[in-house]
Amino acid sequence: MHVAVLDAEIDFAGWRRAARAFRRAGVAPEQAAFRVGAAGEGLFDERPPPSAPDAVRFSVPKAFVDLAEEVILHRSEDRFDLLYRLLWRLGAEPDLMKIVTDIDVAEALERARNVSRASHKMKAFVRFRQVEDGTGERWVAWFEPAHRVLEKTAPFFIRRFAAMRWAILTPDGSATWDGAELAFGPPASREMAPSEDPVEEFWKTYYASTFNPARLKTKSMQGEMPRRYWKNLPEAALIPELVARSTVRTEAMVAAPAPEPNARLAKTLSRINRDHSFGDGFVPSTLDELGQAVQACRRCPLWRDATQGVCGEGPKKAKLMIVGEQPGDQEDLAGHPFVGPAGRVLDAALDEAGVDRDDVFVTNAVKHFKHEPRGKRRIHKTPAVSEVSACRWWLDAERRLVKPNVIVTLGGTAALGVLGRKVAVTRERGRGIDLPDGARAVLTVHPSYLLRIPEAAAKAAERDRFVADLKRAKALL
Ligand code: URA
Repeated sequence: MHVAVLDAEIDFAGWRRAARAFRRAGVAPEQAAFRVGAAGEGLFDERPPPSAPDAVRFSVPKAFVDLAEEVILHRSEDRFDLLYRLLWRLGAEPDLMKIVTDIDVAEALERARNVSRASHKMKAFVRFRQVEDGTGERWVAWFEPAHRVLEKTAPFFIRRFAAMRWAILTPDGSATWDGAELAFGPPASREMAPSEDPVEEFWKTYYASTFNPARLKTKSMQGEMPRRYWKNLPEAALIPELVARSTVRTEAMVAAPAPEPNARLAKTLSRINRDHSFGDGFVPSTLDELGQAVQACRRCPLWRDATQGVCGEGPKKAKLMIVGEQPGDQEDLAGHPFVGPAGRVLDAALDEAGVDRDDVFVTNAVKHFKHEPRGKRRIHKTPAVSEVSACRWWLDAERRLVKPNVIVTLGGTAALGVLGRKVAVTRERGRGIDLPDGARAVLTVHPSYLLRIPEAAAKAAERDRFVADLKRAKALL
């Protein structure tokens, strides 16, 4: 048995070097092992990777390298072996990565999805607590990610909290941002983080006021906010009580008159609806302002059945904007775009295209969820042209604020919202279309379309075309 010793659990460069050496030297997967720790520890019959004849060259698809970088972060013990088995098999099966039904490929994709999900959960559930040190205010969070995603996810917190000095402590390591530099340090323990501060009251109040008992679905709530994260979420302390009170609160909500938007928003609203602007030449000057005002929008009837308006999210100067159709069931409840099944397809395709979702402003042509009830479910309905036109006002405002170079439209409704005309996406997809504001649009299909294709080979082919469209958009940036 040949054993490669890696520096750390997430030592991708080390694994890659060793795996290449193994493969060049013809070491079969059954004879190769990877271990984290200092060289020389452990079993006697360990032999380091044999020196490889440099003449044996090989290359692997980028899709494999990208996937491997994610899978390494998975907590499973055998992830290095799984990846080496794939690398080995690619020698005889160069198209292996396209066979998503292959047992090893499917396993690796599943683990990459788990890692990506753990990263999203970290973005959603890290809660900073305020501490004072000799040099002023700092924010510290304790978090236990499902997989080793600290390094991968820390840059998101720099973008979101660039002006704060913060530290995220985890059992795998810690990340510290001093306002200028990000540093990674050793593992931490929960006692090293403060446990309560006044900001907790804010989260509790916020959660209690946004908690909608009429929409309580305990199962899907636990899917979105899994129990493993509850212990570090101040607002989670409220969940059992809110759930217990939900029947009473639902009855009270049904009996109560519909809530009026607050006075400032009501004023804004009447202006928006009267002259399609915020007043004399006034346009929303920030995305926050836009996000608040959309909650009061009555430009079409869709607000009535939706939980909330869902605006775009992402860096305020993103070069790439992605426009979907409208929030789905999960987005409507969560208040964020593309967090449900279509979002997962989009995330995976973006990863494969080499685009970081955190660099993208993701939004929708229509901001409220259009649906009809079927039993207990809310079934998506395509928005009418009039609704897309009414909502264009918001999309245009987002475009003016973000000023992206390239806008990818997902499906016909998004293309209509961006171009202002009906288009045959399949005829015009993939190429850059000049827009009056100087940006370029790249049309492609909607990820839900990919989800609906039943046949595996056709699905894989369409997915490849989708990824290729995203790559073309990236090349135009
Ligand atoms: N589909 C969309 O078009 N947008 C979303 O945000 C979610 C699903």
